[in-house]
Amino acid sequence: MTTMKAFVCHPQGFPTLVLFVLCSMFLFLLVARPEREIFEVSPLLLKLFNNAQSSPGSAQALQSTPDFEWGSALKEGKESKFFALQSPTPPTASTRHPLEVVYSDGYPFRLNEPDKCQKISPFLVLFVITEPQDIVKREAIRKTWGNENSVPGISILRLFLTGVHPRFGSPLQNLLEEESSIYRDIVQQDFLDTYNNLTLKTLMGMEWISKFCPNASYVMKADSDIFLNVEYLVSKLLQPHLPPKKDYMTGYIYRNTKPIRSKAYKWYVPKEVYPNDTYPPYCGGPGYVFSADLAPKIYKVAQTIRVINMEDSFMGICLHELGISVTNSPWGLFNVYKLTYEKCRFSKVVVVHHFGPQELLEIWPRFQDRNETCKS
Ligand SMILES: *[C@@H]1O[C@H](CO)[C@@H](O)[C@H](O)[C@H]1NC(C)=O
Ligand SMILES: *[C@@H]1O[C@H](CO)[C@@H](O)[C@H](O)[C@H]1NC(C)=O
Ligand SMILES: *[C@@H]1O[C@H](CO)[C@@H](O)[C@H](O)[C@H]1NC(C)=O
Ligand SMILES: *[C@@H]1O[C@H](CO)[C@@H](O)[C@H](O)[C@H]1NC(C)=O
Repeated sequence: MTTMKAFVCHPQGFPTLVLFVLCSMFLFLLVARPEREIFEVSPLLLKLFNNAQSSPGSAQALQSTPDFEWGSALKEGKESKFFALQSPTPPTASTRHPLEVVYSDGYPFRLNEPDKCQKISPFLVLFVITEPQDIVKREAIRKTWGNENSVPGISILRLFLTGVHPRFGSPLQNLLEEESSIYRDIVQQDFLDTYNNLTLKTLMGMEWISKFCPNASYVMKADSDIFLNVEYLVSKLLQPHLPPKKDYMTGYIYRNTKPIRSKAYKWYVPKEVYPNDTYPPYCGGPGYVFSADLAPKIYKVAQTIRVINMEDSFMGICLHELGISVTNSPWGLFNVYKLTYEKCRFSKVVVVHHFGPQELLEIWPRFQDRNETCKS
């Protein structure tokens, strides 16, 4: 595997970008293993399940079609180096549940951009959650909503956050370093990039702001499969003409949701990891925005509490610990469900979930076209 880059990615005389696309397609096929599908978050199912908990009949129906068996996954995991890779001297290694997220004060950076904020204080930092192999997704995002120059007069900084691929860590690392040397927009820490470690990526972002960009005003945490209307986010919600808000976090707000206690779901949260029956209010993971003053607070408080495997719920837990509430946003701005593209509708939303790279690239020129007017 380690020689893959050598023979796949360096035929003489190819421009690097063409190589990128070829390599990424190859790696996508390589890495797109069958179980990938079950690692996709489905907020709809989550909601269905939460609703179902109050009506036992439908809960049973849902449970009869489990899409993932944690029991066997955990049993397999124990035998593989996947779980053996836990840090050598964890504080409570013998008592820790395998799904508990291992976190103390962060992991070492493998790729970093420590100088990005030396000369500028960005108004908005875009943290885009990706996996190491998501080269095609990153390309599409750079060309669409991730464009740092999309809002005139507003300084925007885009960074992709990633961990280390659990199986193809080393061949992908070479590619990632190459991509990083071209775009200088990737930050990576030394933890396994798995669904259950997602929280670590957000915490890496909090650490990065605290250490390398304390003067930023706002941060948008975005998944890689969303449509994001940065212009509307800036003008409607963040309002650059006003002083930056403090202790502010908003998005699609979930209230009174319960942890999923069934091992049949990939959102399973064991009582040992999070004992309470409900989560504090939190913003749905696909896209939420917060004032950058929260980053060091969350980074600090996360070191003192048990980190759970649900990234978005965990942000709510951190805010709860800090005594800070989420802020409501105008109805309909953050959409955790898919909406069909329509220029007028999309010019008045901030986030729409479930947009893959092809679809993004397809709608973006039309969305940007000033001639295509919107009268409503
Ligand atoms: C999370 O990452 C750490 C550090 O690489 C690793 O020890 C742990 O097994 C990972 N956890 C999961 C559930 O993948
Ligand atoms: C950040 O803000 C502080 C106070 O406003 C200022 O002294 C410092 O120079 C700023 N740093 C950067 C890197 O802009
Ligand atoms: C969990 O429950 C305890 C006991 O009721 C409460 O003190 C604590 O604030 C709760 N934590 C969260 C995150 O809701
Ligand atoms: C928009 O309209 C102007 C004037 O009608 C025209 O010159 C321009 O080519 C149009 N742009 C696009 C992208 O269609």
